[in-house]
Amino acid sequence: MATVALKFYSTSIGKKVVMAITGLTLAGFLLVHALGNLQLLWGPARLNAYAAKLQSMGPLVWAFRLTLLAAVALHAFSAVLLWLQNRASRPVRYQVQQYRETSYAARTMIWGGPIIALFVIYHLLHFTTGHAHGTFVKGDVYANVTVGFRVWWIAILYIVANMMVAFHLYHGMWSWLQTLGANHPKYNHWRQIFAAAFAGVVGGINIFLPLVVLLGIRK
Ligand code: HEM
Repeated sequence: MATVALKFYSTSIGKKVVMAITGLTLAGFLLVHALGNLQLLWGPARLNAYAAKLQSMGPLVWAFRLTLLAAVALHAFSAVLLWLQNRASRPVRYQVQQYRETSYAARTMIWGGPIIALFVIYHLLHFTTGHAHGTFVKGDVYANVTVGFRVWWIAILYIVANMMVAFHLYHGMWSWLQTLGANHPKYNHWRQIFAAAFAGVVGGINIFLPLVVLLGIRK
């Protein structure tokens, strides 16, 4: 069984399937995370109660974190292997870069990933452990987020990072359906609409939140 799985993983489609499954797991988390964070608009009581409820799930929280970590590791590892495999199969670099076939989002995937990873490390130090936050109060998620986003360059950093997340999600949502077989002229239009809607909702919420705090709409 393990040999069959490894043999499948050694093919390029095997790695793409792993990227699709792990990417979907992470995208699902991002959607739930964005919808949860939207409760900032309802004020401190609601957001902090939501965060406390999640924390009260005990060992489940760690099971969930380990699943996310494994998904990130497998996603990144498979991306690097695929990138190396593609480079090896095209030893002479094109003299003139041909950009027509791939969209902007597709071309930015390989360096977008590491930048998003750097953002996530900063984000965890900022809002989860508080090491990168001047006045972090454990459990007071509302205060941590609003005080954080009131610093203009932090809000801008989040907005730019979340634009990259949205691009990444757009291409990812488009790609996993292709990997799993939905690549037909009849469906491609719907695939594009679905990918844009998903990336638009997650990216839209994540860009909207720092903006409402920065503009003083949420204090
Ligand atoms: C404006 C956008 C975002 C806001 C306001 C936000 C807010 C937060 C907050 C307040 C926490 C700590 C929750 C707590 O300790 O109870 C958190 C945790 C986290 N966020 Fe975000 N987040 C945003 C975007 C993102 C993005 C784009 C990603 C990933 C690419 C992300 C990944 C995570 C992860 C992995 C955790 C740790 C979850 C855990 O403790 O298990 N967040 N976020």
